[in-house]
Amino acid sequence: MARHLITSAIPYINGIKHLGNLVGSQLPADLFARYQRGRGHEVLFLCATDEHGTPAELAAAKAGKPVPEYCAEMHQVQARIAEGFGLSFDHFGRSSSPENHRLTQHFAAKLYENGLIREVSETQMYSRADGRFLPDRYIEGTCPNCGFESARGDQCDNCTKQLDPVDLINPHSTISGSTDLEMRETKHLYLCQSQMKDELEAWIDSKTDWPVLTTSIAKKWLNDGDGLQDRGITRDLDWGIPVKRGDKDWPGMEGKVFYVWFDAPIEYIACAQEWVNAGKGGDWARWWRTDAGAGDVTYTQFMGKDNVPFHTLSFPATILGSGEPWKLVDYIKSFNYLNYDGGQFSTSRGRGVFMDQALEILPADYWRWWLLSHAPESSDAEFTWENFQASVNKDLADVLGNFVSRVTKFCRSKFGEVVPEGGAWGAQEKSVIDELTTRIRAYEGHMEAMEVRKSAGELRAIWVAGNEYLQEAAPWATFKEDPARAAAQIRFALNLIPLYAALSAPFIPFTARTMLEAMTLDADWPGDIAQALERMPAGHGFAVPDNLFAKIADDSREDWQQRFAGTRD
Ligand code: MF3
Ligand code: ZN
Repeated sequence: MARHLITSAIPYINGIKHLGNLVGSQLPADLFARYQRGRGHEVLFLCATDEHGTPAELAAAKAGKPVPEYCAEMHQVQARIAEGFGLSFDHFGRSSSPENHRLTQHFAAKLYENGLIREVSETQMYSRADGRFLPDRYIEGTCPNCGFESARGDQCDNCTKQLDPVDLINPHSTISGSTDLEMRETKHLYLCQSQMKDELEAWIDSKTDWPVLTTSIAKKWLNDGDGLQDRGITRDLDWGIPVKRGDKDWPGMEGKVFYVWFDAPIEYIACAQEWVNAGKGGDWARWWRTDAGAGDVTYTQFMGKDNVPFHTLSFPATILGSGEPWKLVDYIKSFNYLNYDGGQFSTSRGRGVFMDQALEILPADYWRWWLLSHAPESSDAEFTWENFQASVNKDLADVLGNFVSRVTKFCRSKFGEVVPEGGAWGAQEKSVIDELTTRIRAYEGHMEAMEVRKSAGELRAIWVAGNEYLQEAAPWATFKEDPARAAAQIRFALNLIPLYAALSAPFIPFTARTMLEAMTLDADWPGDIAQALERMPAGHGFAVPDNLFAKIADDSREDWQQRFAGTRD
């Protein structure tokens, strides 16, 4: 039994995420976690809300609530929606947890002891109109790298370059819009990433199996221009983790907090501690400390491409720089963007389908299937309602749903709700077993490699093989001449249902559960396929399930297309 630590990039607390966010990290991470559990491995799957920084402060101000109250509420909302989508986190933590406060301050102390944090007196953008410094998202301007006009103070959303507010051209306050800014002197802490460049580069170079999307972004930040830059890790904000060295005050840093991107990835570790403190697990260290058994753990991170610099460079710098035996990531799976119907999903403009809305109109599995089978892996992908309707109607309703419905209903009408006897498998069944064996081993290979689209394609082909068998065997015709042979055919087809359920569960867990419940079996990952198709012998009782999927009608599609074109209210 292998051990898999799996984390998804932790979503910002500021509002409900759209489907593009979902498919970029949480959903593929869930796919992988469910697959590894299905294979019998030990999995710790963690996610959390990312609660600090300007996004949280701005959203709370907009909602007219104190930040802690806003965060507590939104955490609940996000947790409920995640559950609705079947995201099987072992724990859904909060970056504002006491565990993360302690651990973040601990890392800062270690980095300081190791000479990797320096204090810098610098001048920063101060807004006279707002009476405060303007870190990160409190300031916008033109990106010096690509010319994008709404680049934020910390990162350009267009070219992903990490920025400092002072780099922006024509900057203005996002609180008041004021351009009446001045540079004021203030002191901040910097993480000396530049000192660690060689170590980080050697580490990245050792990851020869990483996707090019991941390594190319890391190499770019390592070597572009003047090379890897030191990063400011403190901010002038009210809400966040107070800057301390362990539990000791940090002279000169009074009133400042750590930068959200410093504490957020540390939450991956703190989340395991929260999991233990919530009584859900016994030992976090065997997942996170190589001196406590985490050496055997395979750690995989999932994220959108804009998160890659922080996970390949900044967070590893924190871990390595601590000089302590923390587990480093083994594999980073990153995703491109999902676009929406001829444009971009936009949280600020409310464009596209958001997670809560998606669940209001259709069950989670419809979305999971479409999103995963169209995951933006090798390039950006696009959601269109036509494509969504076509995939759901074809793959889910016509292929899988129809198969289950035809087999179970035919059996009930001729033999009742028990698996009929019939004889041994013939040539037709043996050839299906051969095809399935090849395809299932290929499917496993793609799932191990986290090739999401290829996995979906293979799973679809596995479903199609059952449909084709049914079409060719035509038990309804066989029944007229040779009822015993028809019984064998139906026994074979019925046995495909629990097999499909086990294989499909990572993609469509709710439907897989319905299928297994109808067959009164538990999921069992198929080893030998011929054997797996003997799980329900003659006499095994089952129930005809309700239709697994309803087709999407043209008028629903048009309604939804209209409804989600504009702004979210
Ligand atoms: N909240 C960030 C985003 O949505 C992701 C943070 S991932 C972590 O882009 F590394 F910081 F945890
Ligand atoms: Zn840019």
